[in-house]
Amino acid sequence: MKKEQPIGVFDSGLGGLTVVKSLIEQMPDEDIIYFGDTARVPYGSRSSETIQTYACQDVEFLLQYQVKAVVIACNTADSMARTLIEERYDLPVVGVVGPAAQKAVAQTANGKIGVIGTKATVNSGAYEKAVKAIDPFMRVFSRACPLLVPLVENGRFQRNDKVVRIILDEYLEPLHRENIDTLVLGCTHYPLLKEAVQACLPDVNIISSGEASTDTLRELLTRHNLLNDTKERGEHRYFVSDDAATFTENAEIFLGRSLDGAVQCITL
Ligand code: DGL
Repeated sequence: MKKEQPIGVFDSGLGGLTVVKSLIEQMPDEDIIYFGDTARVPYGSRSSETIQTYACQDVEFLLQYQVKAVVIACNTADSMARTLIEERYDLPVVGVVGPAAQKAVAQTANGKIGVIGTKATVNSGAYEKAVKAIDPFMRVFSRACPLLVPLVENGRFQRNDKVVRIILDEYLEPLHRENIDTLVLGCTHYPLLKEAVQACLPDVNIISSGEASTDTLRELLTRHNLLNDTKERGEHRYFVSDDAATFTENAEIFLGRSLDGAVQCITL
């Protein structure tokens, strides 16, 4: 493995671009290959077997580009397929659940952490396990929010959007009642809803899963002597399994900047 090889990042769709956003900001020298499985999004309502199959196919696609590490920029795939990916492929793997759990434990004052995510992520109990492994006295309150990914993929995330507000009110009410002081957005699509979520829970500290994973990736690459420090701006390539035009249209909102690389539609 060489430092100059790209980092591979995947998600079921657009959400993983929120992770790419922090990667570009924090590690601008790195080349990135992104794969969004837009033909099969959402993953979060599927069985663990299906999610594992999809996640391995995503990794195998990235491996064609000689990636030096893989970032599972999808809480659902991280919760369901992380162990399998680590066993099956011989390269450094970084997920989003562990780093976000660590951040939540470090930041909560009352030890009550809320987590919202897809059905698969919440049912897997991955956040509870990750949090309790750090501090068994923490309390975790999770809520599956299956309607949020389709909303975000369809461009509905503004805080004044009535539909978004009604759905968030319903999902967040039970967490509010538990008096959480920290909420993990346990899905990489949700950072776009951050303002809307904050409007529902004004006193709660919100953590975006994904942001924290950049630090973990940096540590891992440094440990393996794989950090690209050439001081040249990295190249970014984007691949999707369906409809490159829609992806291109929405990608800028997720990245918070204009798309700086080609988007190509591929068949897995
Ligand atoms: N961004 C994925 C996650 O973090 C979305 C899941 C989905 O496709 O349902 O869980």
